[in-house]
This record gives sequence, C-alpha cells and structure tokens, in this order.
Amino acid sequence: MQPTTPTSPVLGDRSPAEFLDTYWQKHPLVVRDALPDFRSPLSPQELAGLACEDGVDSRLILEEGGAHPWELRHGPFASEDFLDLPETHWTLLVQEVDRLIPEVGALLDRFRFLPAWRLDDVMVSYAPTHGTVGPHIDNYDVFLLQGAGHRRWQIGTEPVTNEAIVPDLDVRILADFEADEEFVLGPGDLLYLPPRVAHYGVATDDACMTYSVGFRAPRHQDLVANFLQDAIEEIDPDARYSDPDLTPVTHPGALHEQTRARVRTLLRDLVHDDAALDRWFGTYITRPDRDRAAVPPETPLSAAELVEALRAGQGLRRGPVARLAFIEHDDGTATLFANGNAIDLSPDRAPAARLVTGREQIPAEPLRPHLENEAIVDLLVTLVNDGLLELDAR
Ligand code: SIN
Ligand code: CO
Repeated sequence: MQPTTPTSPVLGDRSPAEFLDTYWQKHPLVVRDALPDFRSPLSPQELAGLACEDGVDSRLILEEGGAHPWELRHGPFASEDFLDLPETHWTLLVQEVDRLIPEVGALLDRFRFLPAWRLDDVMVSYAPTHGTVGPHIDNYDVFLLQGAGHRRWQIGTEPVTNEAIVPDLDVRILADFEADEEFVLGPGDLLYLPPRVAHYGVATDDACMTYSVGFRAPRHQDLVANFLQDAIEEIDPDARYSDPDLTPVTHPGALHEQTRARVRTLLRDLVHDDAALDRWFGTYITRPDRDRAAVPPETPLSAAELVEALRAGQGLRRGPVARLAFIEHDDGTATLFANGNAIDLSPDRAPAARLVTGREQIPAEPLRPHLENEAIVDLLVTLVNDGLLELDAR
C-alpha cells in the first residue's frame, strides 16, 4: 500500500517527483500561491506569548536598537521585554511551533512526500519593517512560507562552501553576501532553499510572519560517534584481547596476520549485521532532542475508554514530544521506533505501525477496522499512556 500524497501539497503545478528530481538539495525554488489560503494561524501577540513560556526555544535578534548591532537575546521572555523594542529592525523567532499549536503542526501534512524523520520543526518569525536575521546560510533544507505581511528575499543560487563570517557578532552573518536573485513574497508564497544556499530576508512591512519548515540531516560524525557509543555499551567490559593459540613468532617486531585478523573480526562484528544496524538507526533517529521525554497523561486511559472514543469519532494525534518511525520486515513483522525505543510488532500488530507514524493527526476512521484486534488496541493504549499519542481534543 503506497502512502497517499495530496494532489497539490505546496509545489504549485509540480509533482513531488519533479520537485525532488530538479530542486530538492539542488536548487532554490519560489512557488507563488503555494498555499493561496494560508494565513498565519498565530498573531504576532500570540507568538510573543509563546516566547514567554518556559521550555519554548525563542530568540530576539535586534539589528539596530539593541545593546549593540545584531544583539541576540534568548527567551523565555517576559511580556515587558516586548514593550521596549524599537519600532523597526528586529525579529522574534520561535522554534518547534508545530509541537505547540496544532494548526501549525497541520502544515507538516503538506510535506508528506518527504520522510517524516527528516522533518525537524516549524520555526515561526515575526518582524516589523526592516526586521531580518541578516544574510546567512543554514545547513539544512528549508521551506519558508510567508504567513502574513511581506518579506523581500535576496538569495544566492549555488551552495556556499567556504563562507566568511562577520567577526565578533552574536549571530552568524555572511561577510560578503552577493544576491543572485531578489523577490518579495506575500501570504501563501513559498521559498524552498537547499542546504547552504545564502539568503537574506527583510520584512517590508510591520506584519511580516514567516513559517520555516526546517529539516534535519545528522552529521556523519554524530551518526558514527553515537553508534560507537551505543556499541561500546554492549561490549563486556572484562573482555580483552586473548591468544591462547599463540605459536612462536617469526619476528617479534611484526604484527602477525593472526593478530590482525583477530582485531579485524572484532571490529567487523560491530557492523556486519544489517538488521542490528537498522534497529540501531531507528532507535537513534527517534530519540527526542535535548533529552526531552514524552509526558504521560495525568490519568491513564483504559482500553475500553480508547475504543469508545475512537468509535465515537475522536481521533488521536502525535504527542508533542514524540518521534515515531517504523521498519517492515519480510516475515510480516514490523519494528516501531518510538522516542528511542524499538517495539517489535508481530504480524497481527504490524499494521499499527503505518497507522500511527508519519502524520500529526490520526483520524478515527482508519483505526476503527482494528478495534476488535486486542493486540493493536493494547499498543495504542500503551502509546497514549506513554505520552507518545494523545486523544485529539478536537
Ligand atoms: C526569518 O524567518 O526571519 C528568517 C528565516 C531564515 O532566513 O532562515
Ligand atoms: Co535561514
């Protein structure tokens, strides 16, 4: 069964396949009226309110009017912090708004032609006239959707390899930015940028709100370092090199083949099992950032309550701190990865993996045919009671 792709995700008249082939990780793309009806679900005041909450990652960047040029302030802020701001030349940025505001999370459903694990978060910015974070590069793909007001973009067209950064600033600003293209985007317009393409977006009115759908791409160094760290923990700390079969050496200075083979085998055994590597990757890539943990509901849900709610049409949704992914195996089993844990699903539970992953909202309808399946209901209840799924309030 192929996942269904919305007919018009955000790409204008391009199909996802065309977009991926021509632009993804290669070239910038502007899509006018990508989401013609999109209007910021948040007001600037509501965004500022989020930036005052504990546990919400927010920043203010003041190009002018701060303690020094390009001053960077970190949240959480107090509401008074917003009273003293200059009229122009500043930007408020709030990360992970998709996890805080369901209407913003729903934006991610426009990007389901991409693997969910690659999606990082939706950052929302508000800027009055001239507000900008300066010319810069990001290491990740990003879709910048204009939610309100207008922003003038100047962009490069090729990825930058060795960038010069203006020294001694709070923020990383390109020292010698030169634009290849310039345009103004309004509500519903979208700019896609591949990693490391220089860009400089400046608000041209006092209502500028930009929604950045950002992606993640683990560094090879982090992948390997984390894999080795996990592998080390599996090794018996008392196990050592041993050679009970040693025979007299031809030269005491040589590293003999028998020795080298023993060490090669030890190292190769760490990576020879594809299934074990895949399982490690599933657990690694679904670990929540910043050591956060899913918050279980105050009152655990019973199987009967869940079934009743789903029968009544109430759906489920991904918990705010949940990363879910799956691998299906040839024998009909599946592994569900949930916040760094691997859950083995026997064939009778395996269909649940497709139902609960890769989406923000899980409507009741596709779950209903499985409500007689106790194994699936048990799994759903466990996920809800672990805070990985929630009953959708709406
Ligand atoms: C912004 O929303 O102000 C900046 C987004 C970006 O340039 O990456
Ligand atoms: Co950027």
